[in-house]
Amino acid sequence: MISVFGSLVGDEEVANVVACMKSQWMGFGKQVEEFEEKYRRKYKLPSFAMVDSGSNALYMAVKLLDLPPNSEVIVPSFTWVSCAQAVILAGHRPVFCDVDLRTMNVRAEDIQARVTDKTAAVMVVHYAGLAVDMDLILALGYPVIEDAAHAIDSTYRGLPCGAIGDVGIFSYDAVKNFTVGEGGGITARDPARIERAKVLRYCGIGKSGFDAAVSSAGEKTRWWEYNIQESHIKMLPTNLAANIGLAQLDRIDVLQARRKVIWETY
Ligand SMILES: Cc1ncc(COP(=O)(O)O)c(C=O)c1O
Repeated sequence: MISVFGSLVGDEEVANVVACMKSQWMGFGKQVEEFEEKYRRKYKLPSFAMVDSGSNALYMAVKLLDLPPNSEVIVPSFTWVSCAQAVILAGHRPVFCDVDLRTMNVRAEDIQARVTDKTAAVMVVHYAGLAVDMDLILALGYPVIEDAAHAIDSTYRGLPCGAIGDVGIFSYDAVKNFTVGEGGGITARDPARIERAKVLRYCGIGKSGFDAAVSSAGEKTRWWEYNIQESHIKMLPTNLAANIGLAQLDRIDVLQARRKVIWETY
């Protein structure tokens, strides 16, 4: 049997995870920051934050746009359920748009047909790594959320998928080309949005005991004081996941080549 969606975990991932466990720091920490910087540089993203799933990254992406309550967000009809759920959970209404059966991606003309006076944003999905034709969609003039869950390593006119619209997300779940077990990432053209995302993912806490404890002035700061800026669900990624990601990033070409062989076989 040829497994279509199996992950390719090698000795590097195993060694990283063992080292992380032996370090006794498996939760959120320095390796998450290391992964974020390495990923941001590799894919030339304007900004980047890791979170605990692509679904949560989508919810965060909608939230970061600060749309008026009960806005309509146009969403592809053919996608994973979290696309519509992200819109609903953020207090808006998904409006479904058909996809082009040749590409499984939405087209600007079909989006245009779904526009009403309540339309506030458009979500696109680069389905199975095939880039959406973005130029005409951007020209519609609405903020664009790019779901690049399948499109790590994909580009559109030389730009990385996920970083063409206003906010973009990635998924690193177990069946994706690149995996950390469960995980996701978010990027935004405006880096201020990602600064906010980094606060939101930790229950909206701006400065925490953790920050104080690791700062050079740690002993002098009142480490027990938390500054809660907004109320938000916890979406923190772990050092364990980041360690798998660091190894997968080094091997992304191998991972992609293997998928291509499977695809060609089928
Ligand atoms: C198009 C699309 N968007 C979002 C997601 C959500 O990602 P995750 O499984 O990491 O929550 C998926 C997952 O399969 C997906 O296929």
